Amino acid sequence: MARSRTFATTYAKRRMSAGGSRKDGKARRLRKKRTAIRIYSMDDSMKLILGDCLKEMKKLPDDSVDLVLTDPPYNIADKNKLTKVGNEFKTNAEAWGKWDTMDSKQYFAWIKNIVQESYRILKNSGSFVSFFNKFNITYLRDIGLDAGFHPVNFYALVKRNPVPNLRKNGFTSGFELGIIFNKDKKSKKWNFLGQNQMQNYYLYSIGQKSTSHPTEKPISPMKRLIMIFTDKGDLVCDPFMGSGTTGAACKEMGRRFIGIEIDKEYFDIAKNRINNTQGSLF
Ligand SMILES: C[S@@+](CC[C@H](N)C(=O)[O-])C[C@H]1O[C@@H](n2cnc3c(N)ncnc32)[C@H](O)[C@@H]1O
Repeated sequence: MARSRTFATTYAKRRMSAGGSRKDGKARRLRKKRTAIRIYSMDDSMKLILGDCLKEMKKLPDDSVDLVLTDPPYNIADKNKLTKVGNEFKTNAEAWGKWDTMDSKQYFAWIKNIVQESYRILKNSGSFVSFFNKFNITYLRDIGLDAGFHPVNFYALVKRNPVPNLRKNGFTSGFELGIIFNKDKKSKKWNFLGQNQMQNYYLYSIGQKSTSHPTEKPISPMKRLIMIFTDKGDLVCDPFMGSGTTGAACKEMGRRFIGIEIDKEYFDIAKNRINNTQGSLF
């Protein structure tokens, strides 16, 4: 008893001499706990996770997700190509350098792990849709086939008004490519929306973006893809959430959503965006 009192007194004295009180210690612990929060749930239908997607996907159960809809880093940060960020032109390396600079062998091995995890978490009726660097999309096709997926088609986002080629040394960049897989050909979910909505491309105009994320995707094609591959109340996962485009589309359309993002700045952007999106009932 005497020993513990002595210890407590000495400890309290030391803490006081270090400039802290018992109250300060409690506040510090609370602050630490608050900053350690990595999972943000808005009601039960939207879950946003700040973390590494591969680690976080491993925590999701088998056969639980209806659609993986995503847009991974393309690994193409290049000092010689320009892209528009807000009103400024920057090199791709400046705009995306944070995450787009892996050695290519390492990059494809990493993507393979993510595709395999996607296969595991998808229900048999589920689908996988991912945008990818068009020059590498056949690698993604092979990775998907190896994982056990059934290939459905490529999907192009076609810009009516691509950014002008300032150096006038080649084509303007007028389209992006994605790939679509079903987990199981026979039990796939497939909502045929009508002939004029089922082309394997989506034509859109680049306009005002919703956030400052450098590679924010347009929301309208994401909504179309979600409509084709899911029903209301279904669960969609985006392991590379970025500014939360897929999440905002899901909220508008009454789908449940799990989004994972590694960068705190983008995670916060996505959280605010999805919070401010008008939801629809299931
Ligand atoms: C191409 S962007 C996605 C943009 C998104 N489609 C949008 O509309 O905003 C890829 C995102 O993946 C994130 N990212 C990179 N590595 C990650 C990882 N290991 N786990 C989770 N997110 C990651 C990046 O920070 C970036 O925001």
